[in-house]
Amino acid sequence: MIELKNIRKSFGEKEILKDVSAKMEAGKTNLIIGASGSGKTVLMKCMVGLMQVDSGQVLYNNEDFTAMDDKEKKPIRQAIGMLFQGSALFDSMTVEQNVMFPLDMFSDKSYRDRKKRVQEVLDRVQLKDANKKYPAEISGGMKKRVGIARAIVLNPKYLFVDEPNSGLDPQTSLVIDKLIKDLTQDYKITTVVNTHDMNTVMESGDHIIYMHEGKKQWEGSNEDIIFSDDQLLNDFIFASEFFQDIKEMRKMEMFRDKQWRKKAGGSSSNS
Ligand SMILES: Nc1ncnc2c1ncn2[C@@H]1O[C@H](COP(=O)(O)OP(=O)(O)OP(=O)(O)O)[C@@H](O)[C@H]1O
Ligand SMILES: [Mg+2]
Repeated sequence: MIELKNIRKSFGEKEILKDVSAKMEAGKTNLIIGASGSGKTVLMKCMVGLMQVDSGQVLYNNEDFTAMDDKEKKPIRQAIGMLFQGSALFDSMTVEQNVMFPLDMFSDKSYRDRKKRVQEVLDRVQLKDANKKYPAEISGGMKKRVGIARAIVLNPKYLFVDEPNSGLDPQTSLVIDKLIKDLTQDYKITTVVNTHDMNTVMESGDHIIYMHEGKKQWEGSNEDIIFSDDQLLNDFIFASEFFQDIKEMRKMEMFRDKQWRKKAGGSSSNS
């Protein structure tokens, strides 16, 4: 489990993260949502150690990552896979070389085994016939798959993904979300995804953290979100009337389901 305790971070005079405490559930897809500029990327960078917090703690399984020196951080760093906002592939390397890169850096496997592992993860993200292509030659959705393949090639325990859907059409977005969710479940990874894609929120988040202007405004499950009366959260998620209507319908459905379950449970215990 990853836990954030009272994280503060400023750039100069500007306070970006204002006393953020939250929990990322183990083996689940955790979403950090919030408007552009609310601090999602900065928070993620603090979690993986790419940025130093000013104060507060990032705990991995109750161990304070922020207080560790570089040597102590190493095993946690090695257990982290990350996909940056915009994929960040190496343009001068082929798909295969991009995915191979972490193995070249951190594994002592033979070339043959590294190549085998690369093929395994490329198959897992269902990327076909693209091994020898360069990033400029593949679509945005394919680039995300390459980025995901590269992020999981070292078998991470923790996966951080910053805006997996930026620049993708809604359908491709759903496919990428499903892939991240499936990988999380299949490999029991603790995953953290930054997103402002509402489809992602409703479909794939197990645990959701809502950031507003550098503060954690709300935290809960994607079922709780339907019932939440937090005004800021509602204004953010269900911004349009259309989404407000859908929320009300979903709420009614869930309420009805609960009633039915209660009834069904009641009658079975009587029989
Ligand atoms: N290295 C930096 N130096 C100074 N200010 C920064 C730095 N990185 C981020 N900021 C500021 O921190 C704030 C939060 O930025 P951040 O990138 O975390 O937002 P975000 O929620 O990820 O937004 P988006 O949804 O657009 O990706 C912004 O005001 C940004 O200008
Ligand atoms: Mg961001």
